[in-house]
Amino acid sequence: MPSVFIKKLNKTVTINKDFSLMKNLIENNIPVASSCGGEAVCGKCQVQIIKGRDNLSTPGVDEARLLESLKLPSDIRISCQVFVHDTAEITTDYW
Ligand code: FES
Repeated sequence: MPSVFIKKLNKTVTINKDFSLMKNLIENNIPVASSCGGEAVCGKCQVQIIKGRDNLSTPGVDEARLLESLKLPSDIRISCQVFVHDTAEITTDYW
């Protein structure tokens, strides 16, 4: 079963593959910044991928557009658009 380790919280979240990373985090009571409610508009839900980049879904059109427009580094993903297929380690500035 896929899982995500959150370094700053020293917590592992088991991932439901049917839902985005953001939704999985929220369902585990881990706050995720957002002002668009997961519609790939605000970019506030971005997370840094420390390990396991290859275990994530590839960016779709909406995420790719946002990553490009915000000029985000390659280790940043938009959590409301990401699906986790295996293990990963992530963090954000606000945890
Ligand atoms: S919540 Fe707004 S882009 Fe993800």
